[in-house]
Amino acid sequence: MATPEDAGAGLAALSRHLKERLGAGVTHVWLSEETKERFRGLKAKARASAQAAGQPAPDSDAVRTPPTDPLPPAADTAPPDPASKPRPQSAGAASRTPPEGKAARLAAIAERAEHCARCRGLGTLRDTMVFATGNPDADLMFVGEAPGAEEERQREPFVGPAGQLLTKIIETMGLRRQDVYISNIVKFRPKIGDGTDQGSANRPPEPEEMAAAVEYVRAEIGVVAPKLIVALGGTAMTGLLGIDGSVGRARGTVHDCGGTPAIVTYHPSYLLRSGGKSEKRKVWEDMLFAMEQLGMPISERQRRFFS
Ligand code: URA
Repeated sequence: MATPEDAGAGLAALSRHLKERLGAGVTHVWLSEETKERFRGLKAKARASAQAAGQPAPDSDAVRTPPTDPLPPAADTAPPDPASKPRPQSAGAASRTPPEGKAARLAAIAERAEHCARCRGLGTLRDTMVFATGNPDADLMFVGEAPGAEEERQREPFVGPAGQLLTKIIETMGLRRQDVYISNIVKFRPKIGDGTDQGSANRPPEPEEMAAAVEYVRAEIGVVAPKLIVALGGTAMTGLLGIDGSVGRARGTVHDCGGTPAIVTYHPSYLLRSGGKSEKRKVWEDMLFAMEQLGMPISERQRRFFS
């Protein structure tokens, strides 16, 4: 049996360990019921001991809410449980971690991304960081490749022409931009030449640029814990999911993104370039597939949108 002193020391060690993991970018840990029960026992003992000694309960910010935002040991670490999230329409109503806690953790990731030495050290990306937008507690997350000129100007992803098309697609799904979470793999607009005279010209990120930055979008996925990720276009598909080949072949299948289901569709800028109704129809089919995966209601009108 653990004594109150053991309990206090155990909690302090646990708190240190969690803070280290948080510092290393780990945002979710999974605990077995048995471990949670043992933790609750330790916490109760430490509290009782502190009260008996007339002291405040031991400090353990990182372990204050074990059932919702819990702790290792390492053997217990596992991906977040997507089944415990609300539907997109009710996002924010009853999630595992309060959205405001998620917002703070996302802000910490944005801060790290802003100072990403590896990204900036490449010398091929511009200076302004463009992070993400939307609901930190969203069930549905869109991931693109990198910001363009308009995104850089407004410091928000997907606000240029491709972003406006993405917004229409989201609205046709019966959602709003603020219901979903929208991010990019690379957080800086890729330079063309030395970046000084590139005007509004954009380019997709190179593999080494995505390799330098992908840890941030992975950390975002860990915090938001979406039920479904939509990778927009071949560059995001390869950079995030490690899938080579064509988007056409990867469509219509649920892939695995570190434990989170993910699907692939064409990038909205490809739709703008190709202009073809058949590509637009395919993207819409992918969105219906996404809605089915999320258990969202689909109206007849939505089903027949392209008929
Ligand atoms: N294309 C992307 O991939 N991301 C943006 O934010 C804008 C355009």
